[in-house]
Amino acid sequence: MAEVKTGLQNVVIATSEICSIDGQQGKLIYRGYEISDLAANSTFEEVVYLLWHGRLPHRQELDQLRKQFAENRAVAPEILDLLKSLPPAQHPMETLRTAISALSLYDPESEDMSEEANRRKAVRLTAQMGTIVAAYARIREGKAVVAPDPGLGHAANFLYMLTGEKPSEQDARWFDIALILHADHSFNASTFAARVTASTLSDMHSAITSAIGALKGPLHGGANERVMRMLLEIGSVDKAEDYVRGLLARKEKVMGFGHRVYRTRDPRATILQKMSEELGRSTGQTKWFEMSQRIEELMIREKGINANVDFYSASSYYVLGIPVDLYTLIFAVSRISGWTAHVLEQYADNKLIRPLAEYTGPAGLSYVPIEQR
Ligand code: COA
Repeated sequence: MAEVKTGLQNVVIATSEICSIDGQQGKLIYRGYEISDLAANSTFEEVVYLLWHGRLPHRQELDQLRKQFAENRAVAPEILDLLKSLPPAQHPMETLRTAISALSLYDPESEDMSEEANRRKAVRLTAQMGTIVAAYARIREGKAVVAPDPGLGHAANFLYMLTGEKPSEQDARWFDIALILHADHSFNASTFAARVTASTLSDMHSAITSAIGALKGPLHGGANERVMRMLLEIGSVDKAEDYVRGLLARKEKVMGFGHRVYRTRDPRATILQKMSEELGRSTGQTKWFEMSQRIEELMIREKGINANVDFYSASSYYVLGIPVDLYTLIFAVSRISGWTAHVLEQYADNKLIRPLAEYTGPAGLSYVPIEQR
């Protein structure tokens, strides 16, 4: 009888050249580069190229990718009509999931499984995820959709399409760093969902729709939004510790803490902590950072559990003016790059992903006609 590994914990199911995590040392590496190095020195577009091609781009390759993003960022008018015609979502991830799934109906290559077509679809999906999120955010408020600006990079474009105003260079750079930090994380639940779907040789849009469904849950991408809701509910720095002590006493999880792989601090949290602090200071809204810091200190002291990527991203996005219920969608705006990299890798050397289960139900029953049950 095979050993049951609940939740696939510590199970290695494939090799991958895209991303590695050292949970003991708190290291996250994209294609050989440490996340801190990439966050300090690269841009989201460079990281996307790195994830897709396995190396950093030369100048002309990066310019080409930027041009492709600029050419593909606008979505079909039918997608905007769809966003306008859908009923109000109970959660905006429902709308994103529906819209991304619908993109395949307007993609002439949706069923073309050649590598070239799949790479082009990866460009379109990555270029358009942010456009859809920003358009949706404006449509639901009755505002006009803002067309992308070909002169802006990916991060600045998103903030521009969301707010209708060109962001400051500093805000655009912080958001660019947030996108770099969220771009990939190995075989996390949403990426794994994408790879499972791709492993049936289903199309890329189907794989990405699966990933969005998995990302939506509060144990994965849904945590950042819940962190901010918690901070808003706490309201002031002096109440933070009592509030979290109450959660722990009731054996409730504190969102934005803990990780399946990291046994030490998530390296992304270190960078996001600095982002939260500096954004808070520059906008005069320091209390969210101060509250977060108190909570983290308490969690380490009382539970020995560290903050993860979702903890300080919450207060950073808040100060950047991003609506709280969009935080998980922002995760998708970045992670689409990693999802598509993994789908391309899966297609390149495919093996159907199909695990086993240990059956624990009844055995040996005989059918009983319905009148005799
Ligand atoms: N708050 C309080 N306690 C936590 C905790 C948290 N955020 N995360 C883990 N723990 C505790 C659990 O209660 C459990 O304690 P126990 O052994 O006494 O029962 C122990 O740590 C192990 O947690 P578990 O949920 O079994 O680990 P996991 O590997 O299955 O789950 C997460 C990992 C991420 C799902 C989990 O840490 C969690 O739910 N975190 C909150 C949600 C979140 O921030 N998700 C984003 C991840 S990037």
